[in-house]
Amino acid sequence: MQFFLDTANLDQIKKFSDWGVVDGVTTNPTLISKENVSQEDRIKEIAKIVNGPISSEVIATDYEGMVIEGRKMAKWHKNIYVKLPTTEAGIRALTTLKKDGIKVNMTLVFSAGQALLLAKAGADLISPFVGRLDDIAEDGMALIAEIVAMYSNYNFDTKILVASIRHPRHVIDAAMLGAHVATMPADVLEKLIKHPLTDKGLAQFLADFEKVKNIQ
Ligand code: E4P
Repeated sequence: MQFFLDTANLDQIKKFSDWGVVDGVTTNPTLISKENVSQEDRIKEIAKIVNGPISSEVIATDYEGMVIEGRKMAKWHKNIYVKLPTTEAGIRALTTLKKDGIKVNMTLVFSAGQALLLAKAGADLISPFVGRLDDIAEDGMALIAEIVAMYSNYNFDTKILVASIRHPRHVIDAAMLGAHVATMPADVLEKLIKHPLTDKGLAQFLADFEKVKNIQ
């Protein structure tokens, strides 16, 4: 399973890259706006730190605008995945950008029907938003299960990037289902390493060693 960081913050990206677990980065206009930087500059900075897929989202909502922006972004770095919304204009832009050989991540996926259509159209990645479905009392992980089953029935090349992850359980469930990628905020990645019994056990080991340290 690949782990992507869902952030545009360089400190977070550097920190977790040092852990050796960051395969890629996803950004969106909200994450870029939190950093108060130019999208192009930030994406290029991220590409210097992480050698893997980096998603950069278009702002245009019309077909022509998405294609222009997507082509421009694809020139920023070889690892750019142009992120397009799952709309009628978005699926047309996906088809055009794929003909150019540009990698595409289709975002804001909320149904199995959307996921099926996007795989047929040749998306490289699709991003189903599990947390936002859970937020409206739907079952985000049930959607992932449906998409995994559909894609494996037909051997689609499209990879499932589980997005809008809120907690470590989402990551575990996505892995149990065999999703290809989980993109998560820094706090979720950090929580994956923590366990109170690890801290308690370590404190006990150190306390016990303290009792005999004079005879070492
Ligand atoms: C995915 O690529 C998106 O950036 C992200 O996962 C959205 O998550 P949110 O629902 O926490 O905003």
